[in-house]
Amino acid sequence: MTPPTLADAALDRARTHITASLSGQAPRPIVHGFFDEPTHTATFVVHDPESREAAVIDSVLGFDPAAGTLFYAAADRVIDYVRSENLTVAWILETHVHADHLSAAPYLQGKLGGRLAIGSGIVEVQKTFGKLFNAGTEFARAGTEFDCLFEDGNRFTLGGIEAVVLHVPGHTPADLAYVIGDAAFVGDTLFMPDYGTARADFPGGDARLLFRSIRRLLSLPDPTRLFLCHDYKAPGRDSFAYETTVAAQRRGNVHVRDGTAEDQFVAMREARDRTLTAPRLIMPSIQVNIRGGRLPEPEENGTRYLKIPLTTGRS
Ligand SMILES: [Fe+2]
Repeated sequence: MTPPTLADAALDRARTHITASLSGQAPRPIVHGFFDEPTHTATFVVHDPESREAAVIDSVLGFDPAAGTLFYAAADRVIDYVRSENLTVAWILETHVHADHLSAAPYLQGKLGGRLAIGSGIVEVQKTFGKLFNAGTEFARAGTEFDCLFEDGNRFTLGGIEAVVLHVPGHTPADLAYVIGDAAFVGDTLFMPDYGTARADFPGGDARLLFRSIRRLLSLPDPTRLFLCHDYKAPGRDSFAYETTVAAQRRGNVHVRDGTAEDQFVAMREARDRTLTAPRLIMPSIQVNIRGGRLPEPEENGTRYLKIPLTTGRS
């Protein structure tokens, strides 16, 4: 399949920065991954080796829903790494509102600083789930819990490294990919080539949009490093993996390799999504993550509570 030929200024800019990074004209970012096994989530710290300015992407706050217990060990590992590497955190980035783990963004921001950012589509996600959870007027649904709401094509820097934001809807309406030098953090669009792609059946999700977002990402240069938000070990693979390349995805992704037609992907994705159950932590995750990872305010007894909206099942 040929890359898109439509004018795509954001993608062109991303390609330019990737090429500069790969050819040595610009610094190549250093990426360190942390894998949280209970939620199968990869958190990344990416930094410029010269200025040591860093971004933390998709952090995890541990949570046991049966006991209502929060765990900070995964976030503390990130903090320890940032401090031991002497990094300055400029950004705490979310690729989207996660439905399978709580974000540790406010905890990390309190310890490390940095600006908290997500896509501007968060407002749509806040409206949908604000309604589901019957949030009151104190929940503004305007993205105000975040320091920055990114649009497609927005840019930022990590020291001397240029970064471009790409809007990649499909898994949710607000998903972003962050292209930082030659490293693209693609959130829940693609998984490892042997595992395929993310589900597209959450509110505002769309398999056709997901396909187009993925093909857009796969039109980046072949050596672009892709960092994924999750891994579940494909059958026959014994270790977790969350880094691959555009070339590897184009050659062998089991759902969207080169040559896979859009309709074929949509039929596969929608059929597969009909078989999937709700993620274990969807209710707590969404309630917390639509507020930028902030926990609900304590009630008058000093305890914080999460809600579960109840519905009736079929049998
Ligand atoms: Fe997700």
